[in-house]
Amino acid sequence: MTTPRLAILGVVLMTAFPAIADDRVPPVTDPVVIKECGSCHMPFQPVFLPARSWRALLHGLGDHFGEDATLPPETVDIIRAYMTANAGDVIGQGAGRKFMRWVAPNGTPKRITENPVFLKEHNFPESVWKDPKVVTKSNCLACHPAATNGRFE
Ligand code: HEC
Ligand code: HEC
Repeated sequence: MTTPRLAILGVVLMTAFPAIADDRVPPVTDPVVIKECGSCHMPFQPVFLPARSWRALLHGLGDHFGEDATLPPETVDIIRAYMTANAGDVIGQGAGRKFMRWVAPNGTPKRITENPVFLKEHNFPESVWKDPKVVTKSNCLACHPAATNGRFE
């Protein structure tokens, strides 16, 4: 008897406070991605970029934002399969869906931090980005300590 009532309460809460539901993105669960794409920065959630962006990024690991992040082809295949299957334009859940809305229909951004919705919601003065604890916009963990778990409140 209590279960349906709880379910209804859940729906009511999600409708009343969409921000709560929206700030969560599915965390990365693939151990290869966590290991290989989480050593220099947090493993960014695939939902923040469309599948074509992940394909482009994984095609150019030899020059990855100035770093050599080359991996064996069979490892890249595993990562590509996971990132494209869970990309923002494929599953489009929560905050990721918002990011997709702002990615130009044919655009292939290689950065999450250049997308208009990101910049709009992170419209901080330059001094914030220069803070030694932050250093770069892609350092999500500096301000979102639970970012790896998909929590960006
Ligand atoms: C050798 C270190 C290294 C590894 C390994 C690495 N990256 Fe990066 N990555 C970087 C650097 C450096 C940047 C640029 C950071 C900056 O400018 O703020 C970056 C930036 C990124 C960005 C853009 C972040 C933004 O500004 O929105 C994405 C997306 C990304 N990496 C994905 C990946 C994926 C996927 C993998 C695994 C295949 C990976 N990275 C592995 C070093 C690495
Ligand atoms: C300098 C601190 C800082 C950094 C670095 C930062 N964020 Fe944020 N982020 C914030 C703040 C503050 C908010 C809340 C903004 C608001 O609600 O007005 C926020 C909000 C968000 C939201 C919620 C937006 C929404 O509408 O639901 C997401 C998702 C997010 N950030 C993702 C990221 C990702 C991904 C990165 C790294 C690539 C990142 N942030 C880096 C400070 C930061």
